[in-house]
Amino acid sequence: MESANGEQAMVILETSDITKRFKIPGAQPIEVLKGVSFSVSAGEKVAILGRSGSGKSTLLHILGGLLKPTSGKVLRPRNFGFVFQAYHLMPELTVLENVMLPAQSWRTPLARATALSRAVELLGKVGLKDRLDHLPAELSGGERQRVALARALVTDPELVLADEPTGNLDALTGADILKMLTELSSDGKTALVMVTHSQEAAAICDRCLTLQDGKLI
Ligand SMILES: Nc1ncnc2c1ncn2[C@@H]1O[C@H](COP(=O)(O)OP(=O)(O)OP(=O)(O)O)[C@@H](O)[C@H]1O
Ligand SMILES: [Mg+2]
Repeated sequence: MESANGEQAMVILETSDITKRFKIPGAQPIEVLKGVSFSVSAGEKVAILGRSGSGKSTLLHILGGLLKPTSGKVLRPRNFGFVFQAYHLMPELTVLENVMLPAQSWRTPLARATALSRAVELLGKVGLKDRLDHLPAELSGGERQRVALARALVTDPELVLADEPTGNLDALTGADILKMLTELSSDGKTALVMVTHSQEAAAICDRCLTLQDGKLI
């Protein structure tokens, strides 16, 4: 990607020739990814489309280091956030504690205070300022998804990996979340790789890639 002044933008995520094969005892292995190579520049937004079962979540988990590729390489920034398709909030922690979780290792009082004020601000932005002390079980599916988004943003990451972040939201709430994702990189810094089935979500991205037959096209 070239920036406005013609400079080459910095690549912050790069994959080369990723393959992923799942072996299941007693069955033929499935080759879900068959050589995926792409890169994402700082501040760039990329949508990953593809049919159910095409390997989108598998790819995103590999990008986030949650799953090892069978072969191939991933270079990612240290500070990134992840929004899971199934939220994965900690059931015994409150909404605020869940959002603060990625900043657990921030030890100085100043860093803790920054994380707390950012968590509260983000929860306000996703419309949950009155739910800070709720447990995940006391929230609707869409509310849980919004907590998961706030959690992914609390460290002010260089990259957000999001698996269908508007999948469980009504049109209006989905539009709010997309607005937040659009504003992610008002500073031009935070990149987004978003798996989505939604036209509206794909429309906020700079680039759309489709996963088909194990490859990105
Ligand atoms: N741990 C696993 N073991 C075996 N097979 C798996 C495993 N995880 C995923 N698969 C298979 O890999 C394929 C891709 O799964 P994946 O979850 O990446 O699809 P997806 O594109 O995210 O689909 P959806 O749009 O429904 O979320 C599926 O056929 C699935 O059954
Ligand atoms: Mg998926």
